[in-house]
Amino acid sequence: MNKVIGTGVNRKDGRAKVMGTATYAAEHQIPGLVHGYLITATIANGQIKSINTTAVEKAPGVINVFTHKNAPKVFTPSNDFRTSKIYEARLPLSDDKVYYAGQIIGLVVADTFERARDAAHLVKVEYATQKPIVDAKAATFKESPAQMGEELKFEKGDFAAGVASATAKIEASYKTATELNAPMEPHATIAHWQDSDSLTVYEPSQWVLGTQRTYAELFGLPSERVRIVTPFLGGAFGSKAFPWPHGILCAAAARQLGRPLKVVLSRRQMTANTGHRSETEQTIRLGATADGSLTAIEHEVKSYTSPVDVFTEPCTGITPVMYTAPNLRLKQELAVLNIGTPTFMRAPGENPGMWALESAMDELAWALKIDPVELRLKNETKEHQRKGQPFSAKHFADCLRVGAEQFGWKDRPKQPRSLTRDGKLIGWGMAAATFPGLRGAATVKIRLLPDGTAHLLTAGNDMGTGAYTVVAGTAAEALGLSVEKIRVDMGDSLLPDGGIAGGSMMTASLVPAVMSACQQVLKTADAKTAQEAFVTLRQSKRAAIEATASSAPGAEGQKWAFQSWGAHFCEVSVDEEIGRLRVTRWVSVMDIGRVINAKTAASQVRGGVIMGIGHALMEECQFDPNIGYPVVYDLATYHFPAHADIPRIQVAFVGEPDLNFNPAGVRGVGEIGITGVSAAIANAIYHATGKRIRDLPITPDKLL
Ligand code: MOS
Repeated sequence: MNKVIGTGVNRKDGRAKVMGTATYAAEHQIPGLVHGYLITATIANGQIKSINTTAVEKAPGVINVFTHKNAPKVFTPSNDFRTSKIYEARLPLSDDKVYYAGQIIGLVVADTFERARDAAHLVKVEYATQKPIVDAKAATFKESPAQMGEELKFEKGDFAAGVASATAKIEASYKTATELNAPMEPHATIAHWQDSDSLTVYEPSQWVLGTQRTYAELFGLPSERVRIVTPFLGGAFGSKAFPWPHGILCAAAARQLGRPLKVVLSRRQMTANTGHRSETEQTIRLGATADGSLTAIEHEVKSYTSPVDVFTEPCTGITPVMYTAPNLRLKQELAVLNIGTPTFMRAPGENPGMWALESAMDELAWALKIDPVELRLKNETKEHQRKGQPFSAKHFADCLRVGAEQFGWKDRPKQPRSLTRDGKLIGWGMAAATFPGLRGAATVKIRLLPDGTAHLLTAGNDMGTGAYTVVAGTAAEALGLSVEKIRVDMGDSLLPDGGIAGGSMMTASLVPAVMSACQQVLKTADAKTAQEAFVTLRQSKRAAIEATASSAPGAEGQKWAFQSWGAHFCEVSVDEEIGRLRVTRWVSVMDIGRVINAKTAASQVRGGVIMGIGHALMEECQFDPNIGYPVVYDLATYHFPAHADIPRIQVAFVGEPDLNFNPAGVRGVGEIGITGVSAAIANAIYHATGKRIRDLPITPDKLL
């Protein structure tokens, strides 16, 4: 039997992507397609007094112009995570109000993209302008509501008493900047109506079945009348799970015009209109006895939402998970700014949350003169302290020990500023990583064909993470076929519901369903192997033997808490004269349950670390205090790492299959890699320079 699971199968979609034959949303060719270009607000707070589109309408090639005065009709969807969801509760063009700079206030439709764009700039808008609030310091905070069914506040024990009994106390505030998801593939929608009651949408969607339900509700249709097509996504990071206003407006305008319509956002528009990670300010208070046992942990978080929806960057989610303390207090506050709506971005909450907690743990380790690895081992928690449940298959300690071993941590000089190389200061740092083990219901169909191939079909999709390869490898092993003999179709709402490509869920959702469908198809064929089934198939002259199977979470979540774990170890070099920092060495060790594909899993960790290096050192979106617009406007002004910024990243996996979680024992790996990265770097900078930096990104000015 060929062993595929756990090996490093090459990307199933690799060739298509390298050859340019993978079709992204904006690339679908539809006859008769017309082009829309968004008109966006140039103020951040106020009202449209008048909008004159006369010149726009007269411009060459223009077919129609939509504003709030002639907004195409849409219905209000339920906007609930369980059924249908839109990113911004306010529907596009619903009134004359402007809540943030860059908000959509119109759509020009023309025969070509260039003519639509040209015409859009001829609009004349008069505003009644109010001073926007884009500065965090001017904001008013309220307690954050529960999000996706989870409370963000929590208290156990008596925090004040816990601090009073402590020998060592740490209190510090840590900041993170506003970050943009900035996927390579721009946001784009093609809406194609067949008559006025049947809609096909080509849109990068991490959740085609959810998006199908949402568009159906928006247009008062049964779900079967809407098809979402997303075979490939060019990155998403949380910004492509639900429809944004531009997609809704595109579909509504296309229906009214009776023409297929495409709307592609510019990078400039994406900075304001397609989500971001809110900046945060987090205060951590730790108390510990002289031997390093934590007596109290407090985590207070401030983040920001838009005037038109509520989204909290849920940083306190990690705090009851990481370290045990008899006294624990968590608090999240939210304020409204005149900026677009923030949203999920790779490890939402976990990434900035771990920045603060793992920096504070390092500060405590220095204060107590305890090795930071030892401090973490000492305070590891066996249970999820908010849920009161034990963790299943937890191997955090192995991550720390193996990481320390592979990095050579024990040789670390114990004092800051004690290591130099080529005239530069060298520092070593470490931090933990974590992300919850999540999974959803998924259905997969397998068809065995007379030509000796198997066809795997599911609506679940691959946002660049490796899902095509993971499901193909799983099916290959289960059927006893080579990976080349497995054909995979994903990302179309006509296919069986495969769940959401988000929350690092796709592998844990799909793999058990793939295994089950493979067993089922062999049973249907009354064969032990696919080869045997192919013989039966040919003899019977049947076109195919097929089976569909589902897998879903059961009651295990009532007994166990599921969580993935990791540890990062890194080296930095700092040239204090010019403030230049290089990350020179990296080791990450992860416990993600069973590893299905060693290559794509390691690649996800590397991608997470690279994005974490961006979070730590570069990524930042400022808003102009006068006009409220993001001052970054493309992938050159919004800095993130390029190849030259990244060292070799060594990745190892430890642990065991988490069989309480699902029959495949697999937890996801898409997001955990980024968590803890920025803290590991800041901790290494402290070791190198003796300077504690608590404000991200760590740009050269902070190192001088
Ligand atoms: Mo992820 S932030 O759930 O795409």
